Amino acid sequence: MSAPLTSIVLAAGEGTRMRSATPKVLHQLAGRALVEHAVIAADQLAPDHLVVVTGHGREAVTEYLTGVGKRLERDVLTAVQEQRLGTGHAVQCGLAALPSDISGTVLVTYGDVPLLDGATLREFVDAHSANGNAVTVLTAEVEDPTGYGRIVRDANGGVAEIVEHKDATAERLAIREINSGVYAFDAAVLSGALGRLNSHNAQGELYLTDVLSIARGDGHQVGAVICEDPWLVEGVNDRVQLSVLGAELNRRLVEQWQRAGVTFIDPQSVWLDCDVTLAQDVLVEPGVQLRGTTSVATGAIVGPDTTLTDCVVGEGAHVYRAHGIGAEVGPECEVGPFTYMRPGTKLGRKAKLGGFVETKKADIGAGSKVPHLSYVGDATIGEHTNIGAATVFVNYDGVNKHHTFVGSHARTGADNMFVAPITIGDGAYTAAGSVITQDVPPGAIGVARGAQRNIEGWVARKRPGSAADQAATRALNSSATEED
Ligand code: UD1
Ligand code: CA
Repeated sequence: MSAPLTSIVLAAGEGTRMRSATPKVLHQLAGRALVEHAVIAADQLAPDHLVVVTGHGREAVTEYLTGVGKRLERDVLTAVQEQRLGTGHAVQCGLAALPSDISGTVLVTYGDVPLLDGATLREFVDAHSANGNAVTVLTAEVEDPTGYGRIVRDANGGVAEIVEHKDATAERLAIREINSGVYAFDAAVLSGALGRLNSHNAQGELYLTDVLSIARGDGHQVGAVICEDPWLVEGVNDRVQLSVLGAELNRRLVEQWQRAGVTFIDPQSVWLDCDVTLAQDVLVEPGVQLRGTTSVATGAIVGPDTTLTDCVVGEGAHVYRAHGIGAEVGPECEVGPFTYMRPGTKLGRKAKLGGFVETKKADIGAGSKVPHLSYVGDATIGEHTNIGAATVFVNYDGVNKHHTFVGSHARTGADNMFVAPITIGDGAYTAAGSVITQDVPPGAIGVARGAQRNIEGWVARKRPGSAADQAATRALNSSATEED
């Protein structure tokens, strides 16, 4: 039985440098808000309590976190820090939202540090416990420590204190080991020390970092764990950092899938969200974005130039130059180029959607094809049916949407309008250019178009001497000659 664990995520900061109406921690990276990355990482340690300290934009942040809690199937509490009085004060606010008798370990992380993962936190908390520390800080050695708190070590290499950049002497500014802002505290030591913080420092804030020196002064053991991968503790303060960390996270996601057997022709042109899953022997061509919960089964080829959000791509399917949202593409299907699949699109095995085809709430059976220039909305199509070029499923009467059923082995003509609600039977045909407003029974052909009428000599009478008239005259003369 391990000690109780409480996780506090600090996310009250204003994020002024984002220059955004959206609170900083709600900006997205790889399909998750920054604060969601932090909460998911903390959740992986299955803490007894998980609380996010909010401040700036707290209504929006709290609402978002409600959704995160539902997805994680756990309580994600929020605490409010009304005034931004410093990191020490923020942790006080977090603790105030929790039962007063919490014991064990309190893990503190930030809501704007998206690459920090659960495994790293697990190792960190385990090291804290194994070393019997009262306080452990996660540190990193960086090229440019500007702005960070510096880790001041004593003669024995122990952590003496953390000095903020703004409070540091020139000698200490030279220290390249920085405070990541991730800590594990003994709960009792933490709450005791928080009550003794003061704001006698350059920023007039209650520094959480001072808990270390207070604990040490009381004779408690204070330690540090060096994070070997500084990317993991890097925070987002502006949109430049957002994109830099986004690119790094993407690089890592791509590499993870490469190691799992996925080929990327041009990794840098591919963007993956965290919740995407790719099977072995998937091939991802250049210019692909896979978003949300998209999954791609083995042997499938995605791209080039394809964006899929919350889609399922079956084994051996090929989806290229396509845009899909909430679509299910069956095994061995072919989709593209220039195909738009909207939510509720479902393709059976070996179905095909071709160029300039848009689908929505369309269940298209195995082997059926919509090859060219069509809109298929609110439709059920059976198996091995072919929909003619330039067909529109006329689903909307201006008020309500209606459904169209097309059976199996049907052959519908080019340039058809299917005015829903309507049913085209199994094995039925429709004539090209038909506006089909009545059901077509199985095996029948539906014809719904005006009969053709040719008015002879119209051009000669109405456009005498025109190029058309001359061409027609030549054609008529030569066919007359041929007949001779
Ligand atoms: C803090 C540390 C510094 C460390 C750095 C790492 C202190 C005093 N300093 O710097 O040693 O190197 O983080 O990034 O702790 N926050 C609140 N409420 C507040 C203040 C901050 O919720 O009143 C949150 C912010 O939203 C942010 C995090 O705490 O997520 C850190 O705040 P920030 O101002 O970026 O860090 P510093 O205090 O400059
Ligand atoms: Ca920061």
